[in-house]
Amino acid sequence: MNGRLPVIARYGDRLPLAPGAPVVSLGEGSTPLIPAPRISERLGIELFLKLESANPTGSFKDRGMTVAVSQAVADGACAVICASTGNTAASAAAYAARAGLVAVILQPAGAVALGKLMQARAVGGRLLEVRGSFDQALAAARELGRRGTYALVNSLNPDRIEGQKTAAFEIAEELGAPPEILSLPYGGGGNTVAYVKGFEEWGAGMPKIVSGQAAQRASTVASAIRIAEPVHQNEVETAVVRHGVEVVTVGDEAILAAWRELAESEGVFCEPSSAASVAALEASKPPRGARVVCVITGHGLKDPATVERSTPPPLVVDPDPDAIAEAVG
Ligand code: F0G
Repeated sequence: MNGRLPVIARYGDRLPLAPGAPVVSLGEGSTPLIPAPRISERLGIELFLKLESANPTGSFKDRGMTVAVSQAVADGACAVICASTGNTAASAAAYAARAGLVAVILQPAGAVALGKLMQARAVGGRLLEVRGSFDQALAAARELGRRGTYALVNSLNPDRIEGQKTAAFEIAEELGAPPEILSLPYGGGGNTVAYVKGFEEWGAGMPKIVSGQAAQRASTVASAIRIAEPVHQNEVETAVVRHGVEVVTVGDEAILAAWRELAESEGVFCEPSSAASVAALEASKPPRGARVVCVITGHGLKDPATVERSTPPPLVVDPDPDAIAEAVG
């Protein structure tokens, strides 16, 4: 099998799309799984990072969006709608553009990272800033979806979860077996539910899944997971009981420390929410020698403001070699 095939081409036999449905794809999935030697050494484990940030719009959302938008086209939809903290928006807008559909995007005003805002605008999404929280925007999107004019492409749409579960397949395939531990961020919980489903369907055992939520859900620096009321909470709680999922709460300081370590020690520049996977893993005290995968859900370029706030600015120098050498020190 060609390991670099897009999601529907690679795993279509495990997805609910009807044969002959149009495939709307930007080449998502088949993302890199790379070792993280320095964090591995510090924690005494064998850590791999699943770079979902390498998807076409820079986040894991593309896996589910290819399925949801393909299905929307097959169903004859003319427009899709979502509420989003930014990544679902960027993905929905891009796949809608690819399919020739309108994308209506509801975003909590002033709470979406700059890169994500620009992505959705660039590809022609109909962006609306909602005076309210993500949860309120989602309630409005659900109601508009129910009215039938728009296909809802939030993770409440089961096709999204179906597509996202393929990341679990890739990990199990590439490692030869599921890892002992899989850690990921927990916002609305759709991705946690998707990994549980994926490993269950793969049938080679369930890793211990660590789902890291922000202590300050409504105000965390990790704006992608700034969600007060996780819409998949009941399913996550069921997975805690049935599959041993552990929900771990991490503070913003721990998230930012993990974000910095990923960048400076491993060269992996992700957005803060993604680093909640590493922060939660550490808080869960993984046993020595455990084989672990942390899911890097979104690219660092999406959130330049966090870099500006958290790292020193460049030095300004004249184009003079001696002055430059002296400035570097
Ligand atoms: N990481 C990133 C980068 C995200 O964008 C999200 C969710 C999550 C983690 C959490 O995943 O909600 O399935 O538990 N972003 C959504 C959005 C809410 O609108 O883009 P989850």
